[in-house]
Amino acid sequence: MVRFQAPRGTRDLLPAQAAVLYRLFDLARELGGRYGYRPIEIPLFEEAAVFERAIGSATDVVEKELFRITGAGGGAGGGEGSGDAARWALRPEATAGVVRAYVQHGMQTLPQPVRLASFGPMFRYDRPQAGRYRQFWQWNVEAIGDPGPAVDAEIIELGLRFLRGAGAAGVEVHLNSIGDAACRPAYVATLVAYLRGVEDRLPALARARLATNPLRVLDSKDPQLAPILADAPRMADHLCAACAEHFAGLREHLARLAVPVRDAPHIVRGLDYYTRTAFEYFVPGAQGQQSALGGGGRYDGLVELLGGRPTPGVGFALGIDRVLAIAEEVAPAATSAPVAVVVGADPAATAVRLEIATNLRAAGVAAAADLAPRKLGRQLEGAAREGAHFAVVVGDELAGGQVQLRDLQAGTQRLVNVADLARELERAQASHRHGEGSPGA
Ligand code: HAM
Repeated sequence: MVRFQAPRGTRDLLPAQAAVLYRLFDLARELGGRYGYRPIEIPLFEEAAVFERAIGSATDVVEKELFRITGAGGGAGGGEGSGDAARWALRPEATAGVVRAYVQHGMQTLPQPVRLASFGPMFRYDRPQAGRYRQFWQWNVEAIGDPGPAVDAEIIELGLRFLRGAGAAGVEVHLNSIGDAACRPAYVATLVAYLRGVEDRLPALARARLATNPLRVLDSKDPQLAPILADAPRMADHLCAACAEHFAGLREHLARLAVPVRDAPHIVRGLDYYTRTAFEYFVPGAQGQQSALGGGGRYDGLVELLGGRPTPGVGFALGIDRVLAIAEEVAPAATSAPVAVVVGADPAATAVRLEIATNLRAAGVAAAADLAPRKLGRQLEGAAREGAHFAVVVGDELAGGQVQLRDLQAGTQRLVNVADLARELERAQASHRHGEGSPGA
């Protein structure tokens, strides 16, 4: 017997988990709207070159983790893109695609900044481990067209508000500035000189990165590197005047908003498009790479890199799978029981049970019908097992336009006109919902 499984690194979100995911989606939509970030949906795949250009060819995300796909048909003579192996790639993140859309749709002509948010799955061919999946969800938020630093603070505070609303306690923002084209090259040269001096003590991966992407050596979690990195020159000490002023301004704004910030000189982020602001959200006690609940920063060169006019931008993405784990623990999904189940004395009369339930649903009542041709006793047992508050019992009284409305919790029952059922149950449904609690923001 063949037994299929979800692909390695992916998982099924079963109803209790999916319900919490949707709750987070609702929270993201509500907060996005409140802060003026408008929804945008971009494709799940793009030309691979969009990611190669935006994220950088010497990053793990592009070098090792891109899910490359061919066009329709695959082989020669197929569809568009055939014979052009791996021309496309599943999106590993949303920023590149959002900026591509900003340029493509001429959003430079709109009032700036353009504030955009999206919620959806991303794909990275990563080595699966705790908190790391090959398909994962992000809430991605961008403000394009404002040099900051006030908008950087707005964005950082928004991410924090979401995480708190989702149930994460004690979230800290780890903050750094990684300079810009004016000051970073000189800093990188200083860093490389320092690392060359200790090269014989560097692990193999760090030595390889020293050659291709020296800044990335800084955010290694290898304990062997810790003492070397502690003494490494810091970008924050090598910022040009403009970057230093920006960084100081951002700190002032964050202090004014009472955002808890921690200096994180080693945060450089894994994507090449960042300039100046770089930040990650952490919950205390879990500081490993996998435990960042999200991260982001400024990308003042990205719009130009993707063919637009020079335009600054800043944003973040939250790792929703990691937030989901917290939210599930803090506030598990309420089990959704129907208010009423329509049952009947005649096992075969499924049509009338379904008809009554359909009319109740049309009137806004969470109603179910027992559609199995089984005895009334079994149907009532089923209704109780589902946690329904009421059973609507269809019997001989239907000839007179009436049914029995049985309160399964109180154990009482009375005759009700079918025409009045929805109204009777609506009142009960309101109190039912009230007792369940609602997601907090
Ligand atoms: P990132 O740091 O690559 O940034 O990803 C953001 C968050 O997505 C991470 O902090 C983590 O929580 C989550 N994440 C990343 N990879 C995985 C994975 N394999 N499994 C589960 N969760 C994962 C970005 O993606 C940037 N686009 C953020 C940004 C927006 N910067 C500016 N605007």
